[in-house]
Amino acid sequence: MKRKHPIIAGNWKMHKTIAETENFIERLKPSLKDAKISVLLAPPFTALETAVRMAKGYSLQIGAQNMHAGDGGAFTGEISGAMLKDVGCSFVILGHSERRQLFKETDSFIHEKLKKCLSLLLTPILCVGETQEERTQNKTRQVLERQLEGCLKNLSFHGMIAYEPVWAIGTGKSATPEMAEEAHLIIRNFLKMPQIPLLYGGSVTQENIVSLLKCPHVEGALVGGASLEVEKFKAILHNAVL
Ligand code: PGA
Repeated sequence: MKRKHPIIAGNWKMHKTIAETENFIERLKPSLKDAKISVLLAPPFTALETAVRMAKGYSLQIGAQNMHAGDGGAFTGEISGAMLKDVGCSFVILGHSERRQLFKETDSFIHEKLKKCLSLLLTPILCVGETQEERTQNKTRQVLERQLEGCLKNLSFHGMIAYEPVWAIGTGKSATPEMAEEAHLIIRNFLKMPQIPLLYGGSVTQENIVSLLKCPHVEGALVGGASLEVEKFKAILHNAVL
């Protein structure tokens, strides 16, 4: 059964300074009183501490966009899950297509991160999704199942899955509700775990959020571009509970 309250997560990617983060969350606060929605934000590492402080007392969860699978050591430039917990993160986005494509992350590498993340009781948002080419070749199911299998293997997974078709990310070309529903059903049937929330991501806007959330298996959204402007993000939150 579909859960009652939608989950809306903002992924800021490599955007926003500390001052911009402060300003954004201050202006977001009036929209955080609605108990019928879960709101999550993933600022860059440098703004996490500020975001956690600003979110105190509000129903806003703060998380990171990536983490390393190790506990610590000689990994210049990396951040561990324990460090994310230390700063007050409650979740972490893993396996985003930008990490997979630009930074060559593989399913087995993401699996290691998931394992660590779960052991620390941080909630992972695992991203999966096909490229345009794979969709054209009718390989969407195959790709989603391969990514889920490779990332989850025999983990006892507690977290969320975001279906993010690569062709829809940052392109303004969102999946139609029918496409999103079809992919979410593939994921749902593969997982056989009804308690795992399934989010859609890829050019989500205040306009298309309404029809996307009407799909029986779309339970929330991972929002990139439209989460950067507070008024646009607030409009998404508002429309998500219409
Ligand atoms: P977008 O990004 O909303 O800008 O398409 C989504 C994402 O990358 O999570």
